[in-house]
Amino acid sequence: MADTISFARGAPSLDIVNVDGLKQAAARAFEADPAGLTAYGTSVGYVPLRNWIAEKHGVAAERVLVTNGSLQADAFLFDTLVTPDSDVVVERPTYDRTLLGLRNRRGKLHPVTVDDNGIDTEELAALLASGVRPALAHIIPNFQNPAGVTLSAARRQHLLRLAAESGFTIFEDDPYLDIRFAGAPLPTMLEQDTDDRVVYASSFSKTVCPGIRVGYLVGGTEIISRIGKLATNTYISPNMVAQAIVYQFAVSGQLDQSIKTVRAALAERANRLGDMLRAELPDARFQVPDGGYFLWVELPDDVHVDKLAPAAADRGVAIVKGTDFLVEGGEHAVRLAYSAVTPAQIEEGVRRLADAVRAVRGG
Ligand SMILES: Cc1ncc(COP(=O)(O)O)c(C=O)c1O
Repeated sequence: MADTISFARGAPSLDIVNVDGLKQAAARAFEADPAGLTAYGTSVGYVPLRNWIAEKHGVAAERVLVTNGSLQADAFLFDTLVTPDSDVVVERPTYDRTLLGLRNRRGKLHPVTVDDNGIDTEELAALLASGVRPALAHIIPNFQNPAGVTLSAARRQHLLRLAAESGFTIFEDDPYLDIRFAGAPLPTMLEQDTDDRVVYASSFSKTVCPGIRVGYLVGGTEIISRIGKLATNTYISPNMVAQAIVYQFAVSGQLDQSIKTVRAALAERANRLGDMLRAELPDARFQVPDGGYFLWVELPDDVHVDKLAPAAADRGVAIVKGTDFLVEGGEHAVRLAYSAVTPAQIEEGVRRLADAVRAVRGG
């Protein structure tokens, strides 16, 4: 359908991407450092951006590796730590591409419940007590994709204790850190880590634009140096032009401005989506998140997503089925991204979705 309204895309709409600012940043980047941009560079990334990221997180530059999007960072980390049959803890639900990346490496997945305060660390403690020794726990701490929830401060500390006791790595996958529009920020696990238990990833996809493909890893020097060698052997170096543009965008203050723009737009969209869902789908259960791109909606048991998704598509609205984010379950849940839709599209999109729900109920 030509005018499909997409709640499926976890990307900013064009009106909140600063295209002119990016053009100016590109011009400045070529002007300031033509040799640095046009050469291969090194596997650790464009050095000025690497230093900028190190400063943002208060770590030594040797602990940072800048990649082509954080998915490339995920892939390097998984290739380093996950071998066939490695035990890996994932959140339930979690980002579908995390499940894909871990399945591709034949990791043995242990899903642990996510509730309103993030991953249930008591359930994880019980899993560890049963003898499971994971190599890695993948955690999305802020405005989780897809559930929208944030891991509480107490649970962040509990996770760090469990990781120290059982010897696993916490993969803190944090692309939504700066997209908070309500409540106070919480300390990252990275900044509370005292013995290199945390490998942290973030990205400029959600604050600048995804097409720029710039993300990064922060970890202990030993693992970052191992991953640096893997990166050299994979692609010599990531995209220096894109990273230099991001660097210029960041140091000029345009990044901070862009974050403000995205936050304000997404706050409005999230609230509008919540209001519309309450009005049009009074049986749906959800919480409007304090930030990020996604709202998770649980629908009544007689609404099955395998019927709902095509019925919604027929009415010109795209959603992602809850089942995509779970090893088991999710048949009555959907993820709605409010990042790529205007408030007017949200209103029309929820009306169409409610019509699709009515059509499939009980069927
Ligand atoms: C938790 C999580 N990690 C990673 C990514 C991908 O980020 P990037 O565009 O930097 O590869 C996403 C994008 O939706 C995400 O939600």
